[in-house]
Amino acid sequence: MTPEMLYALRDPAGVPSHPLVFLVLGVLTFALHIAAVQVMLGAATLTLRGAFSPSLHWRRLAQAMLVTAKIAVSVAIVIGVAPLLFVQVVYDPFWYTSNVLSAWWVIGFIVLLILGYIAMYAFYWKNHDIVADGGRGGIWMVLSIALLLAVGFIVHSLTNQMLFPEHWMAWYAPKDVVNPDGHSLHYWHLPRFLFFIALSAPVTGAWLYGYRRYLQGAKETDAAYLGWLRGLAQNLMLIGGVVSVLIGALWMATLPEKMAWFASSVWLLMAVVALAAVVALPLVLRDRIDRGVWGYAIFGAGAVGLIVVGAAREMLRFVTLLGTHGYNAMDYKINMDWYSTGLFFTTFGVVGGVTLAYLLTVAWQAGQSKGLYTPSATVTRIGQWSVGLLIGWTVLYFAVGFFVWAR
Ligand code: HEM
Repeated sequence: MTPEMLYALRDPAGVPSHPLVFLVLGVLTFALHIAAVQVMLGAATLTLRGAFSPSLHWRRLAQAMLVTAKIAVSVAIVIGVAPLLFVQVVYDPFWYTSNVLSAWWVIGFIVLLILGYIAMYAFYWKNHDIVADGGRGGIWMVLSIALLLAVGFIVHSLTNQMLFPEHWMAWYAPKDVVNPDGHSLHYWHLPRFLFFIALSAPVTGAWLYGYRRYLQGAKETDAAYLGWLRGLAQNLMLIGGVVSVLIGALWMATLPEKMAWFASSVWLLMAVVALAAVVALPLVLRDRIDRGVWGYAIFGAGAVGLIVVGAAREMLRFVTLLGTHGYNAMDYKINMDWYSTGLFFTTFGVVGGVTLAYLLTVAWQAGQSKGLYTPSATVTRIGQWSVGLLIGWTVLYFAVGFFVWAR
């Protein structure tokens, strides 16, 4: 596949803002997506581990993690859409070819995701009070985790097939016979996939520190449970962190030849340093994690660590496609559209910011207060603003559509 052929596959309309904007947003939203995926997998696994345990602590944790896992699936899906949009804008020749080559799996992805989410709900419906009754129907949770992992594996395969234009023809027409059925996934790299999955352990450990701090804020009286949680969180971060780095080393040792440069790059070094710093943070903070926002800061630091890992992952793609295949994502034709760029950032910052601030504040304060919770006048006003902004956004959306259509 020559660079000219790759460039010919680009959208002739160009992109509506500088390509760097899409690359940066792609990294940031990928980090958020993978963080939600990792919390989802970690919480689901802890639910399965704890629900059937004779230990009251484990069962209590399972009850809480089941709720976390349910919400994390929806967050992972919603935030997964964002990197999907950005990757298909600047890497469209690669992303679409990879998708078309495995079209069945692209559609199957949605079916498996729906089934995986239903299976998690089936477990939830069967378990109203895990603390009192213990778990029931664990097979549903096993099925859910397996299906969600299958979904991640499909995305992993699509993301990697796009990096091998030299194989596309052989995948499309094996032995020169065209086979357009899209039934196969053609490429995967297990150590890379497992690296992102293994990171679920330290990320969930960081999440547990936040959960524990939240309970402390709500005046939790069971000190033994809080102590137990701390030990578990620490083990998940330390042991999980070491296992992830070992799997990451296996990924580096088995990189395809054209990507081997990455194993000795500064990008990889930065990612390893960032991960090590996050894992060491609770050891440095010690008892400060019980004060102020420090208990939450560990997950915040984890999110920053994932942004660094996401940036390194993006450099691996950018440099491979530029160096080996002559495709420069940064020289995409720009057809500057200030309206859509402005609308995007306003939606993200103002509409999203105010609405999320309201929902999170209400959920937060309700969880921290005892008895009936009544939001303050300020919080209620933020809620009214969110509704107003959403109505305004919807009116603007249709108004511009009608204006353009009527012209
Ligand atoms: C719920 C189960 C899911 C799991 C376990 C999962 C897991 C993963 C993993 C492991 C990666 C990294 C792959 C790699 O770099 O090799 C990834 C990337 C990605 N995921 Fe997910 N994912 C899930 C759902 C979704 C959904 C529902 C969407 C879209 C709506 C999505 C969109 C993406 C995108 C666009 C990327 C790659 C972006 C890029 O190439 O830069 N994922 N996911």
